[in-house]
Amino acid sequence: MINRRERMSRRLERVSLSGLLTFLLLYSLPLETVAETSEARGMPSTSVLNPAAQLWRDVRQRDGSNVGNTQVKGVETGVLINANGDRWGKFRMEQLIPIGGTVLVSAVLLLGIFYMLRGKVAIEGGPSDRKLFRYTTYERTIHWFLASVFLFLAITGMILLFGRSVLIPVIGKEAFSVLASLSKEGHDLVGPLFIIAVVLMFIQFVKRNIYQKGDLSWLLRGGGIIGGKHVPSNFFNMGEKSMFWMLILVGSVIIASGLMLLFPIFGQGREWMGLAHVGHTLGAMLMVTVILGHIYIGSVGMEGALEGMTTGYCDLNWGKEHHDHWASELIEKGETLTNEEVEKLKMGDSSTTHGGESATTG
Ligand code: HEM
Repeated sequence: MINRRERMSRRLERVSLSGLLTFLLLYSLPLETVAETSEARGMPSTSVLNPAAQLWRDVRQRDGSNVGNTQVKGVETGVLINANGDRWGKFRMEQLIPIGGTVLVSAVLLLGIFYMLRGKVAIEGGPSDRKLFRYTTYERTIHWFLASVFLFLAITGMILLFGRSVLIPVIGKEAFSVLASLSKEGHDLVGPLFIIAVVLMFIQFVKRNIYQKGDLSWLLRGGGIIGGKHVPSNFFNMGEKSMFWMLILVGSVIIASGLMLLFPIFGQGREWMGLAHVGHTLGAMLMVTVILGHIYIGSVGMEGALEGMTTGYCDLNWGKEHHDHWASELIEKGETLTNEEVEKLKMGDSSTTHGGESATTG
């Protein structure tokens, strides 16, 4: 006879054994099966699926369409991987950087070759003992402000674009990371100054950069730099005027796209940001290439060109040879100055009768 106590203990053993078996069975089943089984039986599911499983599966198997979703509302908050972002990254690495680099290096080489073949364009009549007033202190300040800001942005921008391929092999990753961070912060902080510089330049110089009769023939005759013959021109020649309008038009594209990249708070998604980046970089490269030519002619390429932009006065013969319509007008008005008069004016002696800060006819 099995007594009552024994029966109780056998029942307990059976219960714990079946509990253990159920636990082991459940533990060995995949979560989804447990959830499906419980749902199929109409029982509430207690398991929690890994919410990222499907997402990472989509990331791995992505087929050129956007990946991701969320309940958070905002611009592209539901897009983890933007398909155009992949295309943009590829374009930047495989086209923009190598082609842009080739264009810039070629421009420098061409200027070097041109200098070796043509040499410095001299003042044919030689430097004279008289000068013409060309730029006010304010105009020169705006020019050098724009030039400093532009050169800083061009150098930091190029470090960001070409640095990984060009600088890491030379200075190493640690030094490059410091340089890249400084360039990025510097580029972002100084960028807005470019807007001020371009607006000031536009206001001050626009009148003298409106195309006039005779400008086209200057262009057709290569500005006189090819062939060596002087071509008549006004205060600014066709080349300078075209550079000015390039600065304003391409500068506006660079400014607008720069603002879109700097302040991503106006509802622009990554597609617009990618486009802004490409527009910003192409515009900047075009401008750097043109400005390289401008710097060349304004410095080593032409005798007497820099004087006006550094002192405010240019040589009379330089004026006659490169901007003869403007020079003739000042000569007719009797507004030429001797070197001594210019020195006195620079020392702040206002007794000199003509020339000075107001003469900017064109
Ligand atoms: C260190 C570099 C630079 C040098 C040596 C230089 C030199 C000169 C010189 C000599 C002139 C006067 C030309 C003349 O009197 O006919 C001039 C004018 C001018 N420069 Fe520069 N420059 C430099 C950088 C820049 C930069 C970076 C920009 C713009 C991004 C710029 C934009 C201008 C403009 C707009 C004018 C007036 C021309 C016009 O309005 O048509 N310069 N520069």
